[in-house]
Amino acid sequence: MKIVILNGSPRKNGSTATLLKEMAKILRSKGDAEICYIDLADYELKNCIGCMSCYHKGICCLDDKVEEINTQIAQSNGLIIGSPTYSSSMSGTLKIFVDRGHFVLEQALKGKYTFALNTYEIAGGGSVISALKTLFLYSGGIPAGEYSCKLPFNTSPFDRSGARGKLAVKTDKFYRKIKSEKPKALTNRLIHHIALHIIMKPQVLKRPTQYKAVIDRWKKIAVIK
Ligand SMILES: Cc1cc2nc3c(=O)[nH]c(=O)nc-3n(C[C@H](O)[C@H](O)[C@H](O)COP(=O)(O)O)c2cc1C
Repeated sequence: MKIVILNGSPRKNGSTATLLKEMAKILRSKGDAEICYIDLADYELKNCIGCMSCYHKGICCLDDKVEEINTQIAQSNGLIIGSPTYSSSMSGTLKIFVDRGHFVLEQALKGKYTFALNTYEIAGGGSVISALKTLFLYSGGIPAGEYSCKLPFNTSPFDRSGARGKLAVKTDKFYRKIKSEKPKALTNRLIHHIALHIIMKPQVLKRPTQYKAVIDRWKKIAVIK
């Protein structure tokens, strides 16, 4: 099994990274999990310019290495995304990638198990978890865990008693869900069905030229015939 871990913090050795690296260590210890750990900060991604060419051509027109990350995700069985809380939202570093990750319309996470991780100092961590879970669900993913950690800036999450054990339990559950191919919960299936078939599909099919690559992708993954 292959699992991609994305660190959405601009700080490569901050609290979010500490938790993500611990998850990577636990998953590697299982013996059958290949871990691809990515610091988004290494990529210096450009902002989406809203040209919509990806919906027509299937790839981004901007000249950077975003498609390298997208390919890693496409080849994976599981995706863990971690972000600090910035102004009650996800970090800008992560949002730039999310806008360029072909997630929602392209159903990039179809059948992939997902985990949302967040750190925060005072308040707003819940909004980040909620935004990530919505992204996962609308993109066809299978929500398989979440962890939000409140801690003072620039401290180790593992200074808090119980944090290491709690993360280990959640990581183990995530691994077991992938391993056993646990099906998506009924409510999540319903939400995804409404988002894809009732909200997105009619709009996309109305504009087949503009959304050519999206329609090709939907045919490939049997969303439409
Ligand atoms: C620009 C900025 C905005 C932040 N906004 C919030 C916030 O809205 N709520 C909060 O609880 N913490 C906020 N924080 C604190 C970070 O979310 C927190 O310290 C986090 O653990 C840092 O993660 P890192 O070490 O992985 O970078 C903010 C930090 C920065 C630098």
